[in-house]
Amino acid sequence: MKSLDDLQVAGKTVLVRADFNVPLADGPGGPDDDKVITDDGRIRAALPTLTYLRDQGAKVVVIAHLGRAKGEVVPGLTLQPVADRLSELLDADVEVADDITGPHARAMVGALEPGDVVLLENIRFDARETSKDADQRKALAAELASLADVYVSDGFGVVHRNQASVTDVARLLPNAAGRLVHKEATVFGGIMSDPARPFVVVLGGSKVSDKLGVIGNLITRVDRLLIGGGMAYTFLAAKGYEVGTSLLEADQLDTVRGFMEQAEARGVELLLPVDIVVADAFAADAATEVVAADAIPAGWMGLDIGPATRELFAAKIADAGTVVWNGPMGVFEMEPFAGGTLAVARAMADSSALTVIGGGDSAAAVRILDVDESTFTHISTGGGASLEFLEGKTLPGLAVLEEDN
Ligand code: 3PG
Repeated sequence: MKSLDDLQVAGKTVLVRADFNVPLADGPGGPDDDKVITDDGRIRAALPTLTYLRDQGAKVVVIAHLGRAKGEVVPGLTLQPVADRLSELLDADVEVADDITGPHARAMVGALEPGDVVLLENIRFDARETSKDADQRKALAAELASLADVYVSDGFGVVHRNQASVTDVARLLPNAAGRLVHKEATVFGGIMSDPARPFVVVLGGSKVSDKLGVIGNLITRVDRLLIGGGMAYTFLAAKGYEVGTSLLEADQLDTVRGFMEQAEARGVELLLPVDIVVADAFAADAATEVVAADAIPAGWMGLDIGPATRELFAAKIADAGTVVWNGPMGVFEMEPFAGGTLAVARAMADSSALTVIGGGDSAAAVRILDVDESTFTHISTGGGASLEFLEGKTLPGLAVLEEDN
């Protein structure tokens, strides 16, 4: 994969596709106040590339999206909060253009000096970005390409999307992977091709239906599969246990039974929770109890893995060669149900294995629960992208960087 070191960037205008799709909350003044970023991990992850380009004397034009604007200008999804945070992190003035490839963006790009950074407005305000019509996407890509000399792909979180700013524009300019995309692709590529063993995957999150492709692909590669979070209740139900009012995807019971049979046939250890923190309501102040996994009382719901499961999972992580984790073990946003997620994070932090956290909720959990990020080998910035990598799919935004152009 071509990296930044293969590109001549000094004095050039460089288009960088970043993934700045960060979680936002209302400001202190309520819905009418400016939005605040609740987790800036994705912005910080772009700094190595942006800093390198600035140091090299490039003029940097960043493309990013926020939310799913569906081709409409949505004022609440402006990249202004991102530009403000980026300015702080880079200790430089980063402004956001009022448009994407329109007169304001062109004027701002034209005025850049070496080392300057400008952000184009939310690329998803333009319907052509995500259009199924390749000609539409190509037209936007041509406008983007006309702004710059070189293209750098650094938005790992979007490399699973075939979109104008991800794939089409890469075909129009000399290109390379940025530092983040290079690192993510190298880490995930290594795990999928030659993982240090035992290879342990910890999966959680609410829905098993979101992880079917991942389980199906990984079950042929891993030594141990540890399952927690909301998705575990469908597995427990498939074993014939009562799960009370816990999350249950009844239409997935046969699929899940098939996974358990496949694991057994392949000698893969598939571990489910042995005890559960149950609650009488989905609320932080609900009544709670710890019960065996086969004794969830009627009317109660499982919201976290219990203490015996935490110990079991930690022991299965402790002697691993590689640990990949995607999806929280419980409703970690509520303090009484955060213990399982914290225990897995700590077990990974303590292990000497190569440890990778899939993006999305598990990466956010590590930051929210205040676990030292530097103790993990890699925290991915890609939610869907890291899942698709683990599913064994070809990611269009990476494949395009291998094409000759
Ligand atoms: C993400 O948040 O996973 C990426 O930014 C991709 O966003 P999308 O799912 O809206 O394409």
